Amino acid sequence: MDKYNTIMILGANSDISKELVLILNKEKKINKTILISRDILKLKNILKEKINLDNSYEFKSLNLENDDEIRSYLSDIKNFPDLIISFIGELGTEQDAVKNIKRTININYLLPSKFIELIGEQLILRKMKNSKIVGISSVAGQKGRKINYHYGASKSALSTFLSGFRQKLATENISVLTIELGFVKTKMTKNIPFPSFLTDNAHEAAKKILSAVYSSKEIYVPIKWKIIMFLIKLIPEKIFKKLNF
Ligand SMILES: NC(=O)c1ccc[n+]([C@@H]2O[C@H](COP(=O)([O-])OP(=O)(O)OC[C@H]3O[C@@H](n4cnc5c(N)ncnc54)[C@H](OP(=O)(O)O)[C@@H]3O)[C@@H](O)[C@H]2O)c1
Repeated sequence: MDKYNTIMILGANSDISKELVLILNKEKKINKTILISRDILKLKNILKEKINLDNSYEFKSLNLENDDEIRSYLSDIKNFPDLIISFIGELGTEQDAVKNIKRTININYLLPSKFIELIGEQLILRKMKNSKIVGISSVAGQKGRKINYHYGASKSALSTFLSGFRQKLATENISVLTIELGFVKTKMTKNIPFPSFLTDNAHEAAKKILSAVYSSKEIYVPIKWKIIMFLIKLIPEKIFKKLNF
Protein backbone atom coordinates (compact mmCIF):
# COMPACT_ATOMS: atom_id res chain seq x y z
CA MET A 1 0.00 0.00 0.00
CA ASP A 2 1.52 3.36 -0.92
CA LYS A 3 -1.29 5.63 0.18
CA TYR A 4 -1.77 6.76 3.74
CA ASN A 5 -4.07 9.50 4.92
CA THR A 6 -2.48 10.71 8.16
CA ILE A 7 1.04 10.26 9.45
CA MET A 8 2.08 10.66 13.09
CA ILE A 9 5.79 11.09 13.81
CA LEU A 10 7.31 10.66 17.24
CA GLY A 11 10.69 12.36 17.87
CA ALA A 12 9.92 14.70 14.99
CA ASN A 13 12.96 16.91 15.58
CA SER A 14 15.13 14.01 14.44
CA ASP A 15 17.20 15.16 11.44
CA ILE A 16 16.00 12.15 9.45
CA SER A 17 12.37 12.82 10.39
CA LYS A 18 12.58 16.45 9.23
CA GLU A 19 13.87 15.26 5.83
CA LEU A 20 11.03 12.76 5.66
CA VAL A 21 8.50 15.53 6.31
CA LEU A 22 10.01 17.59 3.46
CA ILE A 23 9.84 14.63 1.06
CA LEU A 24 6.22 13.91 2.02
CA ASN A 25 5.38 17.57 1.49
CA LYS A 26 6.71 17.30 -2.09
CA GLU A 27 4.99 13.96 -2.75
CA LYS A 28 1.61 15.29 -1.60
CA LYS A 29 0.36 11.74 -0.87
CA ILE A 30 -0.40 12.40 2.81
CA ASN A 31 -3.29 14.64 3.84
CA LYS A 32 -2.36 15.27 7.45
CA THR A 33 0.90 15.29 9.44
CA ILE A 34 1.03 15.11 13.23
CA LEU A 35 4.45 15.90 14.66
CA ILE A 36 5.23 14.97 18.25
CA SER A 37 8.33 16.52 19.73
CA ARG A 38 9.79 17.82 22.97
CA ASP A 39 10.52 21.13 21.25
CA ILE A 40 7.72 22.04 18.86
CA LEU A 41 8.75 25.70 18.67
CA LYS A 42 12.18 24.79 17.35
CA LEU A 43 10.67 22.26 14.96
CA LYS A 44 8.12 24.75 13.61
CA ASN A 45 10.84 27.37 13.08
CA ILE A 46 13.01 24.95 11.12
CA LEU A 47 10.18 23.58 8.98
CA LYS A 48 8.51 26.90 8.21
CA GLU A 49 11.68 28.04 6.43
CA LYS A 50 11.17 25.21 3.95
CA ILE A 51 7.47 24.43 3.67
CA ASN A 52 4.12 26.08 4.14
CA LEU A 53 2.89 24.90 7.53
CA ASP A 54 -0.82 25.07 6.78
CA ASN A 55 -3.51 23.41 8.90
CA SER A 56 -2.60 19.98 7.53
CA TYR A 57 0.30 20.13 10.04
CA GLU A 58 -0.34 19.59 13.72
CA PHE A 59 2.29 19.88 16.46
CA LYS A 60 2.11 18.26 19.85
CA SER A 61 4.34 18.08 22.89
CA LEU A 62 3.75 15.09 25.17
CA ASN A 63 5.28 13.83 28.37
CA LEU A 64 6.30 10.40 27.12
CA GLU A 65 6.91 9.20 30.68
CA ASN A 66 3.21 9.61 31.43
CA ASP A 67 1.09 6.73 30.09
CA ASP A 68 -2.18 8.37 31.11
CA GLU A 69 -1.31 11.58 29.24
CA ILE A 70 -0.39 9.62 26.09
CA ARG A 71 -3.49 7.40 26.34
CA SER A 72 -5.81 10.37 26.82
CA TYR A 73 -4.22 12.30 23.91
CA LEU A 74 -4.47 9.29 21.58
CA SER A 75 -8.03 8.39 22.51
CA ASP A 76 -9.17 12.00 21.82
CA ILE A 77 -7.86 12.01 18.24
CA LYS A 78 -10.80 11.99 15.83
CA ASN A 79 -9.12 10.93 12.60
CA PHE A 80 -6.53 8.53 13.88
CA PRO A 81 -3.26 8.25 11.90
CA ASP A 82 -2.85 5.21 9.67
CA LEU A 83 0.95 5.58 9.48
CA ILE A 84 2.96 6.04 12.68
CA ILE A 85 6.76 6.33 12.80
CA SER A 86 8.91 6.52 15.92
CA PHE A 87 12.32 8.16 15.46
CA ILE A 88 13.13 8.40 19.16
CA GLY A 89 16.69 7.51 20.04
CA GLU A 90 19.85 8.76 21.67
CA LEU A 91 23.46 7.76 21.15
CA GLY A 92 25.91 9.30 23.58
CA THR A 93 29.41 8.07 24.36
CA GLU A 94 29.65 4.55 25.79
CA GLN A 95 31.22 6.05 28.96
CA ASP A 96 28.07 8.12 29.49
CA ALA A 97 25.87 5.10 28.73
CA VAL A 98 27.77 3.00 31.30
CA LYS A 99 27.21 5.74 33.90
CA ASN A 100 23.51 5.93 33.08
CA ILE A 101 22.36 2.64 31.60
CA LYS A 102 18.75 3.33 32.58
CA ARG A 103 18.67 6.51 30.48
CA THR A 104 19.98 4.67 27.39
CA ILE A 105 17.44 1.87 27.83
CA ASN A 106 14.65 4.34 28.55
CA ILE A 107 15.18 6.52 25.47
CA ASN A 108 16.04 3.79 22.99
CA TYR A 109 13.69 1.06 24.18
CA LEU A 110 11.13 1.87 26.90
CA LEU A 111 9.76 5.17 25.57
CA PRO A 112 9.30 4.13 21.93
CA SER A 113 8.00 0.62 22.71
CA LYS A 114 5.50 1.91 25.26
CA PHE A 115 4.22 4.56 22.85
CA ILE A 116 3.97 2.02 20.02
CA GLU A 117 2.08 -0.38 22.31
CA LEU A 118 -0.45 2.39 23.10
CA ILE A 119 -0.75 3.23 19.39
CA GLY A 120 -1.40 -0.46 18.71
CA GLU A 121 -4.23 -0.47 21.29
CA GLN A 122 -5.91 2.39 19.44
CA LEU A 123 -5.45 0.87 15.99
CA ILE A 124 -7.07 -2.37 17.19
CA LEU A 125 -9.88 -0.54 18.99
CA ARG A 126 -10.61 1.58 15.93
CA LYS A 127 -10.31 -1.48 13.62
CA MET A 128 -7.77 0.36 11.46
CA LYS A 129 -6.84 -2.48 9.17
CA ASN A 130 -4.05 -1.71 6.67
CA SER A 131 -2.48 0.82 9.01
CA LYS A 132 1.28 0.67 9.67
CA ILE A 133 3.57 1.27 12.64
CA VAL A 134 7.26 1.87 11.93
CA GLY A 135 10.02 1.65 14.53
CA ILE A 136 13.47 3.06 13.72
CA SER A 137 16.08 0.72 15.12
CA SER A 138 19.72 0.17 14.22
CA VAL A 139 22.12 -2.44 12.89
CA ALA A 140 23.96 -1.75 16.17
CA GLY A 141 21.28 -3.98 17.70
CA GLN A 142 22.47 -6.97 15.69
CA LYS A 143 25.91 -7.31 17.30
CA GLY A 144 27.40 -5.83 20.45
CA ARG A 145 30.54 -3.72 20.00
CA LYS A 146 32.69 -2.16 22.72
CA ILE A 147 32.02 1.37 21.48
CA ASN A 148 28.23 1.30 21.95
CA TYR A 149 27.03 -1.93 23.58
CA HIS A 150 24.37 -0.32 25.81
CA TYR A 151 22.90 1.59 22.85
CA GLY A 152 23.15 -1.61 20.77
CA ALA A 153 21.47 -3.69 23.48
CA SER A 154 18.60 -1.16 23.71
CA LYS A 155 18.12 -1.18 19.94
CA SER A 156 18.26 -4.97 20.02
CA ALA A 157 15.43 -4.89 22.59
CA LEU A 158 13.46 -2.50 20.37
CA SER A 159 13.85 -4.77 17.31
CA THR A 160 12.81 -7.80 19.38
CA PHE A 161 9.76 -5.94 20.71
CA LEU A 162 8.79 -4.88 17.16
CA SER A 163 9.06 -8.49 15.97
CA GLY A 164 6.73 -9.74 18.69
CA PHE A 165 4.34 -6.84 18.25
CA ARG A 166 4.26 -7.47 14.49
CA GLN A 167 3.13 -11.03 15.17
CA LYS A 168 0.50 -9.81 17.64
CA LEU A 169 -0.97 -7.24 15.24
CA ALA A 170 -0.80 -9.44 12.14
CA THR A 171 -4.14 -11.05 13.05
CA GLU A 172 -5.66 -7.53 12.97
CA ASN A 173 -4.14 -6.84 9.56
CA ILE A 174 -2.03 -4.04 11.01
CA SER A 175 1.61 -3.94 9.85
CA VAL A 176 4.67 -3.33 11.96
CA LEU A 177 7.85 -2.42 10.09
CA THR A 178 11.32 -2.50 11.64
CA ILE A 179 13.91 -0.21 10.05
CA GLU A 180 17.50 -0.96 10.98
CA LEU A 181 19.64 1.94 9.81
CA GLY A 182 23.41 1.87 9.32
CA PHE A 183 25.52 5.06 9.55
CA VAL A 184 23.64 8.33 8.98
CA LYS A 185 25.18 11.79 9.44
CA THR A 186 22.86 13.68 11.81
CA LYS A 187 23.16 15.73 15.00
CA MET A 188 23.24 12.40 16.88
CA THR A 189 26.40 11.28 15.11
CA LYS A 190 28.07 14.61 14.29
CA ASN A 191 31.20 13.75 16.30
CA ILE A 192 31.63 10.24 14.92
CA PRO A 193 34.05 9.95 11.99
CA PHE A 194 32.02 7.52 9.82
CA PRO A 195 33.65 6.38 6.55
CA SER A 196 31.87 8.35 3.82
CA PHE A 197 31.24 5.35 1.53
CA LEU A 198 29.16 3.72 4.30
CA THR A 199 27.34 6.84 5.42
CA ASP A 200 24.00 8.25 4.25
CA ASN A 201 22.91 11.79 4.82
CA ALA A 202 19.57 12.38 6.51
CA HIS A 203 17.80 12.91 3.17
CA GLU A 204 19.07 9.60 1.75
CA ALA A 205 18.06 7.77 4.94
CA ALA A 206 14.58 9.34 4.84
CA LYS A 207 14.14 8.23 1.21
CA LYS A 208 15.12 4.67 2.12
CA ILE A 209 12.69 4.65 5.04
CA LEU A 210 9.84 5.87 2.85
CA SER A 211 10.41 3.30 0.13
CA ALA A 212 10.41 0.57 2.82
CA VAL A 213 7.15 2.02 4.19
CA TYR A 214 5.55 1.83 0.73
CA SER A 215 6.75 -1.78 0.30
CA SER A 216 5.31 -4.84 1.99
CA LYS A 217 8.56 -5.52 3.89
CA GLU A 218 8.54 -6.41 7.59
CA ILE A 219 12.19 -5.57 8.23
CA TYR A 220 14.34 -3.18 6.24
CA VAL A 221 18.13 -3.06 6.46
CA PRO A 222 20.06 -1.11 3.77
CA ILE A 223 21.65 -3.63 1.41
CA LYS A 224 25.29 -2.68 2.20
CA TRP A 225 24.55 -3.20 5.89
CA LYS A 226 22.85 -6.53 5.26
CA ILE A 227 26.08 -7.77 3.71
CA ILE A 228 28.33 -6.21 6.37
CA MET A 229 26.29 -7.60 9.27
CA PHE A 230 26.12 -11.03 7.60
CA LEU A 231 29.92 -11.11 7.36
CA ILE A 232 30.44 -9.74 10.88
CA LYS A 233 28.18 -12.42 12.32
CA LEU A 234 30.27 -15.11 10.59
CA ILE A 235 33.35 -14.05 12.60
CA PRO A 236 33.87 -16.41 15.57
CA GLU A 237 33.64 -14.66 18.99
CA LYS A 238 37.23 -15.76 19.74
CA ILE A 239 38.40 -13.55 16.86
CA PHE A 240 35.68 -10.90 17.16
CA LYS A 241 36.66 -10.03 20.72
CA LYS A 242 40.16 -9.08 19.55
CA LEU A 243 39.03 -6.82 16.73
CA ASN A 244 39.34 -3.08 17.22
CA PHE A 245 36.14 -1.64 15.74
N1 LIG B 1 22.19 8.59 12.80
C1 LIG B 1 22.55 7.31 12.72
O1 LIG B 1 23.66 6.96 12.30
C2 LIG B 1 21.56 6.24 13.12
C3 LIG B 1 21.90 4.91 12.86
C4 LIG B 1 21.01 3.89 13.21
C5 LIG B 1 19.81 4.22 13.82
N2 LIG B 1 19.52 5.53 14.07
C6 LIG B 1 18.25 5.82 14.74
O2 LIG B 1 17.48 6.70 13.95
C7 LIG B 1 16.62 7.49 14.81
C8 LIG B 1 16.74 8.96 14.43
O3 LIG B 1 18.06 9.36 14.71
P1 LIG B 1 18.77 10.68 14.12
O4 LIG B 1 20.09 10.25 13.62
O5 LIG B 1 17.85 11.42 13.22
O6 LIG B 1 19.06 11.45 15.48
P2 LIG B 1 18.50 12.81 16.10
O7 LIG B 1 18.46 13.88 15.06
O8 LIG B 1 19.31 13.04 17.31
O9 LIG B 1 17.00 12.43 16.49
C9 LIG B 1 16.63 11.67 17.60
C10 LIG B 1 15.32 12.22 18.15
O10 LIG B 1 14.92 11.38 19.25
C11 LIG B 1 14.15 12.16 20.15
N3 LIG B 1 14.65 12.01 21.51
C12 LIG B 1 15.93 12.00 21.94
N4 LIG B 1 15.97 11.91 23.27
C13 LIG B 1 14.69 11.87 23.71
C14 LIG B 1 14.07 11.79 24.99
N5 LIG B 1 14.79 11.75 26.11
N6 LIG B 1 12.73 11.79 25.06
C15 LIG B 1 11.99 11.85 23.93
N7 LIG B 1 12.52 11.93 22.68
C16 LIG B 1 13.84 11.94 22.59
C17 LIG B 1 14.32 13.63 19.77
O11 LIG B 1 13.12 14.10 19.17
P3 LIG B 1 12.46 15.49 19.67
O12 LIG B 1 13.60 16.45 19.83
O13 LIG B 1 11.54 15.84 18.56
O14 LIG B 1 11.74 15.23 20.95
C18 LIG B 1 15.45 13.60 18.76
O15 LIG B 1 15.35 14.64 17.82
C19 LIG B 1 17.07 7.18 16.23
O16 LIG B 1 16.19 6.23 16.81
C20 LIG B 1 18.44 6.57 16.04
O17 LIG B 1 18.79 5.69 17.11
C21 LIG B 1 20.35 6.55 13.72
